[in-house]
Amino acid sequence: METMILTREDVESLIRMDEAMNAVEEAFKLYALGKAKMPPKVYLEFENGDLRAMPAHLMGYAGIKWVNSHPSNPERGLPTVMALMILNSPETGFPLAVMDATYMTSLRTGAAGGVAAKYLARKDSRVFGFVGCGIQAYFQLEALRRVFKIEEVKAYDIREEAASRFVKYCGEKDISASARSIEDVCRCDVLVTATPSREPVVKAEWIEKGTHINAIGADAAGKQELDFEILKKAKIVVDDLEQAKHGGEINVAISRGVIKVEDIHATLGEVVAGLKTGRESEEEITIFDSTGLAIQDVAVAKIVYENALKSNRGIKIEFFRI
Ligand SMILES: NC(=O)c1ccc[n+]([C@@H]2O[C@H](COP(=O)([O-])OP(=O)(O)OC[C@H]3O[C@@H](n4cnc5c(N)ncnc54)[C@H](O)[C@@H]3O)[C@@H](O)[C@H]2O)c1
Repeated sequence: METMILTREDVESLIRMDEAMNAVEEAFKLYALGKAKMPPKVYLEFENGDLRAMPAHLMGYAGIKWVNSHPSNPERGLPTVMALMILNSPETGFPLAVMDATYMTSLRTGAAGGVAAKYLARKDSRVFGFVGCGIQAYFQLEALRRVFKIEEVKAYDIREEAASRFVKYCGEKDISASARSIEDVCRCDVLVTATPSREPVVKAEWIEKGTHINAIGADAAGKQELDFEILKKAKIVVDDLEQAKHGGEINVAISRGVIKVEDIHATLGEVVAGLKTGRESEEEITIFDSTGLAIQDVAVAKIVYENALKSNRGIKIEFFRI
């Protein structure tokens, strides 16, 4: 029996954002309904980074993503994050595929942002703000523009060239965009924060009533992008309570007693499955606290694998003779 090997180039050509969004939405729902398994992430820590094992079982597949985070890698000419996914048959455990999961991580994170905004942002949202214009900003934009009619993008990054590049990209997609001050960017209908910050970068007085925030950047202990005051007055929806408590946007506020676990409104899956409400008024401020879940990775890997089978893409290897 053969195992399929798929490179990043293969993965990129085998899945579209709309397919990823459907898969991720379904994964959140199944998880909330108890129809998906996801043991906690395992961290293997080093002096200069870490490796994380992220297993999950859903939609007829099992899989594990093995992903690093080494912030000083760019100095060595290597990316900060590199990931591989092993996709197995839950029935036999056979490794069906080994694939690049670096692109998949960006794609599924963008997809989750799009799904969250679909349930939590005002339907008439037109102005979109981006604080942090690195890789994730592009994937968030790609997902959001499949849900909303984006009329204007406002962009801020501490590196001006990152904001300019993002503005140019929006222009290429026929979206009117400009680089602005951070205060100005925060005055929008949907705000995406995607920085690696460990200090709040967004102040409460900049956030108007009715804003939805996709808080993407905080995905490890000690990371934080939003002022505590925003968390105190917003309706907070997390991807997973355990992960968010330890490493999401809420982690610092919870560890310092600024907010309590009971203040968290719901998981995104509970909202998607209709077990909890999403946005209830035009006025409320909503936050999606994203940490990134293994169920998202496996749901996306399933589509990649099935599309690869259909199009006969990828290399096939007999790892062991049976
Ligand atoms: N929630 C998830 O599932 C998930 C998934 C992927 C990445 N992330 C996190 O999202 C963050 C962004 O990831 P990325 O891949 O886009 O990284 P990136 O390095 O490509 O982009 C980050 C951008 O933020 C900018 N930035 C840094 N500090 C800033 C500040 N104080 N104000 C404004 N801009 C600032 C940088 O200049 C850079 O352009 C990281 O913290 C990453 O760990 C989360």
